[in-house]
Amino acid sequence: MGSPYNGFSYTAAVMSNLVFITGGSSGIGAAMARVVPYSDARVINISRRELEGYEHFEADLSDPEAWRGVADLFAREIKDFAGERIVFIHSAGTLQPIGFAGEVPPDAYTRQVLLDSASPQILGDAFLHAARKTQVECHVVMISSGAAFTVFEGWSAYCAGKAAMDQWVRTAGAEQARRGDRCRLLAVAPGIVETAMQREIREASSDDFPSIEMFVGIHENDQGRDPEEAAREIWSLLERQLENGAVVDLYVPAD
Ligand SMILES: NC(=O)c1ccc[n+]([C@@H]2O[C@H](COP(=O)([O-])OP(=O)(O)OC[C@H]3O[C@@H](n4cnc5c(N)ncnc54)[C@H](OP(=O)(O)O)[C@@H]3O)[C@@H](O)[C@H]2O)c1
Repeated sequence: MGSPYNGFSYTAAVMSNLVFITGGSSGIGAAMARVVPYSDARVINISRRELEGYEHFEADLSDPEAWRGVADLFAREIKDFAGERIVFIHSAGTLQPIGFAGEVPPDAYTRQVLLDSASPQILGDAFLHAARKTQVECHVVMISSGAAFTVFEGWSAYCAGKAAMDQWVRTAGAEQARRGDRCRLLAVAPGIVETAMQREIREASSDDFPSIEMFVGIHENDQGRDPEEAAREIWSLLERQLENGAVVDLYVPAD
């Protein structure tokens, strides 16, 4: 890996908003980058692939070694930031390997647990550490899922990871409230959004993922949400006075 910033010469000092997005290379994370509602924002995508036109900090977040690098990035960039707002959006996540526990490759299952269950907590904690002394308004937004409270056979590590994410946000949000709302935490289940992840779901076998027909039906009936529309709704939640640690479900069931 070369410079983490891939040759960008940015003007951090004059930017009013600093936005970190894990999984900013695709889907909801990329849409969150594209529709940032602030006129001057420095957006740093943290993922394996780049999002063209944005700063990139390369990291495989299923690898615990990479978490320290992200923690250092938070500490370094937040320390002297004197703008209006700092936002950390954790959108990186994976459904792979789709299949039943005990039937999928153990190494891939381990990486999924590290990304979906552990990285939200470890990176959330790292962000709160880095933000501890800043006077700037801070937000953490975790992209969760209805899978946090629905059993989907074939997604055991994913469902467990999103449930862990929600409960981490509730608990750490209550802690932040007790400390005077230093940082505001939110978990958002975005509903069904037409991204690469939805394509992966439709490519699974019904043996590995028995609920597949529901997702195929939603796609065929054009009921999946547009990523940028979902992203705008997620950004708008930051303007509402939600309880610190709120877990919000944007899913609207089809008629
Ligand atoms: N789409 C939906 O209907 C839906 C519904 C509920 C919740 N969600 C949640 O929304 C979030 C985004 O998903 P999406 O639908 O936008 O899917 P997506 O288009 O497949 O994007 C997934 C993102 O996660 C990143 N990622 C995956 N593995 C990673 C790793 N090992 N290290 C770093 N980054 C990694 C990818 O970046 P790289 O490949 O570049 O690393 C990519 O940017 C996920 O947390 C997902 O659980 C999605």
